[in-house]
Amino acid sequence: MRIGLLTGGGDCPGLNAVIRAVVRKSLVHYGWEVYGIRNGWAGFLNNNFIELTLESVSGILPKGGTILGTSRTNPFKKEGVAETIVANAKEMGIDATVAIGGEDTLGVASRLNKLGMPTVGIPKTIDNDLGGTDYTFGFDTAINIATEAIDRLHTTAESHHRVMVVEVMGRHAGWIAVHAGIAGGADVILIPEKPFLAADVCDLIKRRHDRGKSFSIVVVAEGAKFQHEGDVDGSLITQDVEVDDFGHVRLGGIGNILGREIERQTGFETRVSVLGYVQRGGTPTAFDRVLATRFGVKACELVEKGDFGKMVALKGNKIKAVDMDEALKMKLVDMDLYELASIFFG
Ligand code: F6P
Repeated sequence: MRIGLLTGGGDCPGLNAVIRAVVRKSLVHYGWEVYGIRNGWAGFLNNNFIELTLESVSGILPKGGTILGTSRTNPFKKEGVAETIVANAKEMGIDATVAIGGEDTLGVASRLNKLGMPTVGIPKTIDNDLGGTDYTFGFDTAINIATEAIDRLHTTAESHHRVMVVEVMGRHAGWIAVHAGIAGGADVILIPEKPFLAADVCDLIKRRHDRGKSFSIVVVAEGAKFQHEGDVDGSLITQDVEVDDFGHVRLGGIGNILGREIERQTGFETRVSVLGYVQRGGTPTAFDRVLATRFGVKACELVEKGDFGKMVALKGNKIKAVDMDEALKMKLVDMDLYELASIFFG
């Protein structure tokens, strides 16, 4: 048996831990070969791959990023490209592909599987917004980084009597904002699931200052939607108009716009910190290393059973197999959790 292993989409702490687990389980336990496909689906198009050995995965468990490289290549954007991938995989002698990625990579994996390329998926994203699994790996690391940043911003906000706006990642869902916000004691948390009026945020901050506090922490997800009076849906703040292969625009900038608005409406001095890519870089937490390792081993077990078109998932405390298309059903923030967070607002 020869496995093709790839990482696609944005990188995420724990990718190397999965790669190591798949290689160790495949080589040592089953006696298979593993080809590492470089830079996501692009590696299948230009035959860019390396054979992964025990030596090549030695020492990578705690490392951030992905030793295979990644890209946002979408084989279904242009006609005929997906078929080329299926043919190239066959030519490379690949019997099964293990794709590690988010909604885009797993969406492609599911479609390729239906085209006759046996595939298993492993869900990753720091945003934790994939359906079918309670948690994706990478999320725990991101919320720990964001929580530490909020703790640090707290002390400087307090010393200077300022409002501090912290912009975190979270394109469609506010999981990072809610978890890091609760953990960091945020005074307001804004998420994509609940468009907001700047005036309401300012009222919460004023209420807090009226009870004697001289500083506030506002955590805002990059995908949170700014509302104007009478506009129910609100608008996304984007950095440019260009979209990637999957039609996603680059988000970012809501923190600065909100910060200016808070200062204008409340008169309180306000500063903004955009956490950005530090949330995705560097070493994974112990939780993410364990989850990534369990996912990698389970993916090999699915390949061994010939259970293709499936994705590994965390359900409660158990690793299960679910249909890969489950990943495409967006998992939004549980409103009960948001209500709980809001008890501490203002
Ligand atoms: O991994 C998901 C994510 O972190 C989103 O929150 C963010 O919008 C996106 O990646 C940005 O990634 P890139 O700039 O690499 O496209």
